Amino acid sequence: MWASSKLARFFGVHASPSTYDSSPYFHLLLVFYTAMNYALMALNFRLGVTKAAALWMFSLYQSTLGNSKSRNDMSRHVFAREGFLVVHNAWAQSSTVDAYISTESPLAKAGLLANIGPSGSKSSGALSGIVIASPSNVNPDYLYTWTRDSALVFQTIIDQYTLGLDTTLRSEIDNYVGAQAIIQQVSNPSGTITTGGLGEPKFNIDETAFTGAWGRPQRDGPALRSNALITWANYLLTEDNTTYVTNTLWPIIQNDLNYVAENWNQSTYDLWEEVDSSSFFTTAVQHRSLRQGVQLANAISQTSVVSSWTAQAENLLCFLQSFWNTAGYITANTGGGRSGKDANTVLASIHTFDAAAGCDALTFQPCSDVALSNLLTYVDAFRSVYSINSGIAENSGVATGRYPEDSYQGGNPWYLTTLAVAELLYDSLTVWNAQGSLNVTSLSLPFFQVFDSSVAVGSYASSTSTFTTLTAGIQDYADAFVEIVAKYTPSDGELSEQYSKTDGSQLSAVDLTWSYASALTAFDARAGVIPASWGAKGLTSTCGISTGGGGGAGTVAVTFNVDATTVFGENIYICGSVDALQNWDPNTALLLSSADYPIWSITVNLPASTDIQYKYVRIDGSSITWESDPNMEITTPASVSRARIHEREDKYAISERERPMR
Ligand code: NOJ
Ligand code: NOJ
Repeated sequence: MWASSKLARFFGVHASPSTYDSSPYFHLLLVFYTAMNYALMALNFRLGVTKAAALWMFSLYQSTLGNSKSRNDMSRHVFAREGFLVVHNAWAQSSTVDAYISTESPLAKAGLLANIGPSGSKSSGALSGIVIASPSNVNPDYLYTWTRDSALVFQTIIDQYTLGLDTTLRSEIDNYVGAQAIIQQVSNPSGTITTGGLGEPKFNIDETAFTGAWGRPQRDGPALRSNALITWANYLLTEDNTTYVTNTLWPIIQNDLNYVAENWNQSTYDLWEEVDSSSFFTTAVQHRSLRQGVQLANAISQTSVVSSWTAQAENLLCFLQSFWNTAGYITANTGGGRSGKDANTVLASIHTFDAAAGCDALTFQPCSDVALSNLLTYVDAFRSVYSINSGIAENSGVATGRYPEDSYQGGNPWYLTTLAVAELLYDSLTVWNAQGSLNVTSLSLPFFQVFDSSVAVGSYASSTSTFTTLTAGIQDYADAFVEIVAKYTPSDGELSEQYSKTDGSQLSAVDLTWSYASALTAFDARAGVIPASWGAKGLTSTCGISTGGGGGAGTVAVTFNVDATTVFGENIYICGSVDALQNWDPNTALLLSSADYPIWSITVNLPASTDIQYKYVRIDGSSITWESDPNMEITTPASVSRARIHEREDKYAISERERPMR
């Protein structure tokens, strides 16, 4: 085929947009795609184009057009206006799932809209644009509006509207914008808008502050809200509605992102409102929010925020890496004293999915080896804790919950976490099919072996039987999670928060708005819908942060704690005389966590029985300040036994007060 050799030539090439702009192929291909696209429109391609063809078209855009504005405009035209991504699902295996989706989709949409004021049928009393978490007002009382739940619900609505999947939702979006502009300004127990109030997790549905005791602050809320609003803003820019974006959306977004930039390294309650530490989900969505914020700022010439938001985005990306646990999964929280296996991490990947980034591991994309290894660990943690999972084969889906140690409302499986697993896998299939290959690394090997016990590390093109076997197996596996949800959905389509671990009956809050949103996004992902890019493609990180965990042979995990007061923008780093401490290079020094501010902390795997010198460094943008002389010095102990290294108390810990900076 003529086009496929061109495709091969361009696919997987990561050059800057300017390289392409000057390439004759770039223009040629653009003309070709546009022509193809109009030809496709002329057909009834909802029925006529296979998913593979659609994805192939998409991959051309993704791989050749870079992140330039013209590509965004272009792809929005194609994907949003022309419904390009709503394609016939040619590869779906499960007729049970097909049937479930066709009945549950409209019910989930109706259930979701019923929980939004002012006219939702189950949300009486909620003001315009206010999303109730659930109509349940006792055990549990969820008749409040959470910033997180509302933002995830509106990310779903905004994606559906802007991708042309449901064009009836515009007034809901306008109402949400209006409500958030008000809520942001409400003083509450976390503070005022300028003193931390944006971290307040929930409000009364009449837009007044909730003043009872709660796990606060929760710093994912402002990030999730700005992600949704930036998606909306980017769409409106393609409609030339710059005035509304600049005058109405930008002030709300800027409040949230200044909060993120200023507070991301402070401790937070996790998304389950229980653990006060640093949290992977929160860090991941914060990182996305600042990247997207910088792009929007540039697009509407609000450039004064760009350098500080970019600097903090880089810090966030660096810090994100530190949650990786060498046991092969992401530890959800830095605190909490649990296994760390948690839907937190799966939700983070799907809510930061960016198909343009392929299977990038740095941003934990759904099809990255880190995300897949983590997914398998997470899923398998639930096989023995819920009796409804007993007897289910290892290569099939099971009911999953927030985390295996959970006991809240009985500690049962949740619809939204089970559906998140399916969504991550559908997102992965979409990308593998788009790129026409998949990679098996030593890290993701155990995941892929579930579907083909003889598979080996390597790259498999879509023409190989290995690719076919793996993707078919993964499609079935993904569908099996939806089948579990289908099996435990009552005939009226209602989705509560939890379903019983012993008999699958509905439990906890009824009609959970977030459950409905999670069904809609999982269904869309299965149909190959690709949300707008947020800029994950091509990111690099040179921070060299320690990967934590147990370390290799001859190393000891050393925890450095330092008591240091900082001002906004400043962070504390460490560097020193060995590779693991970046050989004194302040530009790649390791960032410490301030989750226990003013104590800054990091655990680094250092060579055992070695004399090591180090210093803390205070960095604010390009300003680097070293601690005063002399260098600090330690001699690391001989190897601690590997089995015990994971226990914090067995780590070699060094605590100091910061010395004057020079
Ligand atoms: C504890 C639960 O685990 C948490 O998720 C919930 O939000 C609060 N209680 C309030 O119900
Ligand atoms: C409890 C959940 O743990 C939390 O994530 C959610 O925001 C609230 N319920 C409201 O749905």
